[in-house]
Amino acid sequence: MKYAKIVATGSYLPSKILSNKDLEGMVDTADEWIVDRTGIKERHIVGDNETTSDMAYQASLQALDHAKMSPSEIDMIIVATSTPDSVFPSTACILQNKLGIKTNGSFDLQAACTGFIYAITTADCFIKSGMAKNILVVGSDSMSRIVDYTDRGTCILFGDGAGAVILQASDEPGILGNEIHADGSYNSILTCDGHLYSGAIKGNPYVYMDGQAVFKFAVRSLTAVSKSLAKKVEVDLTKIDWVVPHQANLRILESTAKILGCSMDKVITTVDKHGNTSAASVPLALDTAVRDGRIKAGDLVLLQGVGAGFSWGASLIKF
Ligand SMILES: CC(C)(COP(=O)(O)OP(=O)(O)OC[C@H]1O[C@@H](n2cnc3c(N)ncnc32)[C@H](O)[C@@H]1OP(=O)(O)O)[C@@H](O)C(=O)NCCC(=O)NCCS
Repeated sequence: MKYAKIVATGSYLPSKILSNKDLEGMVDTADEWIVDRTGIKERHIVGDNETTSDMAYQASLQALDHAKMSPSEIDMIIVATSTPDSVFPSTACILQNKLGIKTNGSFDLQAACTGFIYAITTADCFIKSGMAKNILVVGSDSMSRIVDYTDRGTCILFGDGAGAVILQASDEPGILGNEIHADGSYNSILTCDGHLYSGAIKGNPYVYMDGQAVFKFAVRSLTAVSKSLAKKVEVDLTKIDWVVPHQANLRILESTAKILGCSMDKVITTVDKHGNTSAASVPLALDTAVRDGRIKAGDLVLLQGVGAGFSWGASLIKF
């Protein structure tokens, strides 16, 4: 066994849709402004009684169905999320219980919008070390729970959802390489610092963002990590069939693709319909492109992530 291979994908979006027109009735904004600056037209919002683990569960069931695997074949669960159901137990343990299985290990991983890339990287290491054979890797976030719907600078950007993949030990090429980075000195440009403190919330329970600083950081880090990873695994960036970036903002995706010399025809974009779903955005976009037949077996796929921390990373995968 030399590789960890993605054998199936799945995703879930809550049924409630929040359109730009809806937002016009909530804050001083306009559909045209939002589309022009972000490319976002609508986003899905988690139901009142729905949780991050509920969405993770639905996405996981779909991935298991596509893999024709029973839940009991999973031996580890990693859930990337910044909006867990509770401080503890982990959303991964709650998901494990909903799936009705026992695993060697199940844990949450928090790297904000880079969470899925960090989780894939971690799962790849567990498989290569021989500690696990079938890992359920999920990105699930209920961003609407931590967004201030009176702040037009942030509430237009985020949506809710979940995406899942099953990574399996394989002799055939799968993940060719990963690269992850972090620089905590940028922590103040994108933060949600509210936390439980002796029975109360201390700090701001909502997302705070310096939009322009985040924009610049995202383009710079995504281009750098893509070039660096491609060089490390000796793959020419022009040979990549599909780029699946974190769906932050269409203009970030376009600027990054332009610097990398990559046509937007090769970039999977779901930001118009999903908004920024944080750790769920990459697996949601990946599943969308697998389902509609664009990403096929044998394709070379570059996943890119960037988010609070600041954290960023990329994975290069042979499908
Ligand atoms: C948030 C973002 C869309 C704002 O776009 P921008 O072009 O940088 O806009 P600015 O913040 O400079 O604001 C320009 C004006 O639009 C206004 N504005 C902000 N949000 C608005 C909204 N939803 N509707 C209408 N006007 C808005 C501002 O108040 C400002 O008005 P002023 O000139 O009178 O002060 C953009 O910065 C962005 O997408 N950044 C990255 C965000 C991101 O991806 N975050 C997650 C990363 S993981």
